[in-house]
Amino acid sequence: MAKTSFALPARCTTPQLKLSKKAPKSTDVYLVPLLAGEDGPELPASELLDDAALRHVLSSLTAVGATGRACEVTRVAAPEDLGVAQVIAVGLGDPEELTDETLRQAAGTAARALTGVKTAATTLGVFGLAAAVEGIALGAYRYRGLRSDEEKKSAAPVATVVFVGDTKSGKAEFETARTSAEAVIFARDLVNTPSSHLYPESYAAILTAEAEEAGLEVEVLDEKALKKQGFGGILAVGQGSSRGPRLVRLTWNPGKAKKSVAFVGKGITFDTGGISLKPGAKMEDMISDMGGSAAVAATVIAAAKLKLPVKITATLPLAENMPSGTAQRPGDVITHYGGITSEIINTDAEGRLVLADAIARACEDKPDYLVETATLTGAQMVALGTRTSGVMGSDELRDRIAELGRTVGEPAWAMPLLEEQEEELKSPVADIRNSHNSRFGGMLFAGLYLSKFVPEGQEWAHVDIAGPSFNGGGVSGYTNKRATGVPVRTFLALLAEVAAEGR
Ligand code: BES
Ligand code: MN
Ligand code: ZN
Repeated sequence: MAKTSFALPARCTTPQLKLSKKAPKSTDVYLVPLLAGEDGPELPASELLDDAALRHVLSSLTAVGATGRACEVTRVAAPEDLGVAQVIAVGLGDPEELTDETLRQAAGTAARALTGVKTAATTLGVFGLAAAVEGIALGAYRYRGLRSDEEKKSAAPVATVVFVGDTKSGKAEFETARTSAEAVIFARDLVNTPSSHLYPESYAAILTAEAEEAGLEVEVLDEKALKKQGFGGILAVGQGSSRGPRLVRLTWNPGKAKKSVAFVGKGITFDTGGISLKPGAKMEDMISDMGGSAAVAATVIAAAKLKLPVKITATLPLAENMPSGTAQRPGDVITHYGGITSEIINTDAEGRLVLADAIARACEDKPDYLVETATLTGAQMVALGTRTSGVMGSDELRDRIAELGRTVGEPAWAMPLLEEQEEELKSPVADIRNSHNSRFGGMLFAGLYLSKFVPEGQEWAHVDIAGPSFNGGGVSGYTNKRATGVPVRTFLALLAEVAAEGR
């Protein structure tokens, strides 16, 4: 039988990025940084503006009240002989306090102001090429899904952005940043794809195609193979849906790797709650319940493109959590991969069930680090708000990932696993139960549940991204609405460090 082929029904639009010594002749807009100096706005001298142009543009900017405060966007007409129609200045704030994150946010804000522009040239990279590239690429991200109306030309995202800088010394940093931004964008596209189009079978096929193209090994277990190998958690969650579950394993194994990292990501392609049905309000956002797996898949694919000298596996349990005559029930007892049994108290606590199997499988390979991420609990947002991930696990790796997250602009905070909740995990009929029926400490209970599947002595971290992976609020900086791609950049930063450790 011919294999059905699957592809994402829609991709985003995002600009083409180039690094070049000079602005191309056909440039429409110059995008320049403006600093908030002590005595007013300062326009740094650059490749794009010679002394005369600099004075002219600065006086135009001052005349319309530009201050250089962070993320302020000001448009002025260009001096006649400059060769472009417009100069757009974006504020970077006080130069003494300039960080990569300020630059990313400013670049992202500026990218959104470039709508309708065909080609822009920018010197933002002078203050940090990687941050400028990421900010522009992520800020300009636009997902229109299956809308059939055509976007107005004036509202279309900028088509090409040329970073003006040294093409030799900047090349590696530029390419790495572009690969990182592409990974975030791929994760965003996966998460933004509706569950009508993204379900375990189609998702597994899409990941297979992308991963094979990047040179990864791919293994997909279908329902039959999952049964044969005893993946009771994934099967139990998937059994209510007519679209069966899968387990996807992606492996990047460069010969020379000294260290290994096993990633695990939650891949619930839609979470209705199952028989413990969720309320209707905002249920449509549960298309994003595979955000952990999307981030992990995008990370590993990027690591392969970057040829990082680290062995990496991604273990991705994919299932659709539906209520039906074949769905699992509260009170059921299931046997996970590896033999631990769980009593199901709440079928809406499904993420931990599929992750338990995947963690047990991933740890069989004895990785140096186990890193798992999931849109796991509403309690994450009660504890930390919608933008800050909760990180649990072994002390060192937990703190390291939380810190890395904060450095790359994906805020994260270390949270404890509580001894006192051990009692709440107990079940009269199974080794553990999947919910404690308490209003308190829900994120930590989920972390403690997962810890039971991590072997003694294994360095590990669990990152709860329930809020941070999907932005239900407005745009800001380089963060658009809906899928954010968190925590791809945190994971790539970790891998860059681990690669350096192994040398
Ligand atoms: N996918 C949800 C968690 C979630 C909620 C993510 C809102 C993003 C936004 C998860 O499967 C879930 O339903 N968790 C329950 C657990 C509870 C039943 C123990 C929750 O947090 O309410
Ligand atoms: Mn749920
Ligand atoms: Zn869920």
